[in-house]
Amino acid sequence: MSGLIDYQGIKISLSGKLILDIDHLAVKAHQCTLVTGQNGSGKTTLFKIMSGLLRPDSIQVDYQGLQMSWKQAKPLLQRDIIYLHQQPYLFDASVADNVAYGLYRRGESKNSVQKKVCQALDWANLSHLAQRHAKQLSGGEKQRVALTRARILAPSLLLLDEPTASMDNEAKQQTAHLLQRLKEEGVCVVISSHESHTVDHLADHHLCIEHGKITVIEPVKKSAKVAVLNHAKNTL
Ligand SMILES: Nc1ncnc2c1ncn2[C@@H]1O[C@H](COP(=O)(O)OP(=O)(O)OP(=O)(O)O)[C@@H](O)[C@H]1O
Ligand SMILES: [Mg+2]
Repeated sequence: MSGLIDYQGIKISLSGKLILDIDHLAVKAHQCTLVTGQNGSGKTTLFKIMSGLLRPDSIQVDYQGLQMSWKQAKPLLQRDIIYLHQQPYLFDASVADNVAYGLYRRGESKNSVQKKVCQALDWANLSHLAQRHAKQLSGGEKQRVALTRARILAPSLLLLDEPTASMDNEAKQQTAHLLQRLKEEGVCVVISSHESHTVDHLADHHLCIEHGKITVIEPVKKSAKVAVLNHAKNTL
């Protein structure tokens, strides 16, 4: 199994408090990882660092065969990794325009964008909402639009922060179904969740953040057995 990206020596303090102190985090290609941890344990902070959105106090990144400092890695992380927020922000526009946005920004032609958006909405079973204003959507629909908007950009890695939070059962199942399809397509996904039962069947690995460190819990599909702690090599 090939490695996609390696993060080493991730350290960050916020308001004088040490939030994360992770020796090594290796993301394998085509794998799905579940990250759990109590409220405030640092899941969102970790995802923001991994996607180049938040500068840690220290880090080294190995990506595409190069060892990089934060400054060197940041633009590549922002280009290739998509972080999906707990409450995704949608633009004040139609669902189709929201999904199209990233492709237009990349300079793709109108024809190509329209074709891809059509296929993507079909993939997510959202075609019937294409012209609906994004602000009128339910929470579950918004999350699925945001997921579609992220997938259409074919990121190397998708970081999903609580993708099923505040959803009813039906919306959770619909989102879990989309995540299953992403996994089948070989998209590398890391999911944080307090509701691991909704997504744990998708996960190849399960990590838990405790006291700023990562604990690896395996095997994934059986109940928790703490295998590796703190200074050991952590593998996503
Ligand atoms: N900008 C900030 N300034 C100071 N402290 C912060 C900041 N952002 C986050 N924190 C603190 O860092 C810790 C980790 O926060 P984070 O949002 O990463 O946790 P989380 O695991 O995602 O929590 P939740 O499960 O509630 O989403 C918390 O104690 C939080 O209060
Ligand atoms: Mg969070």
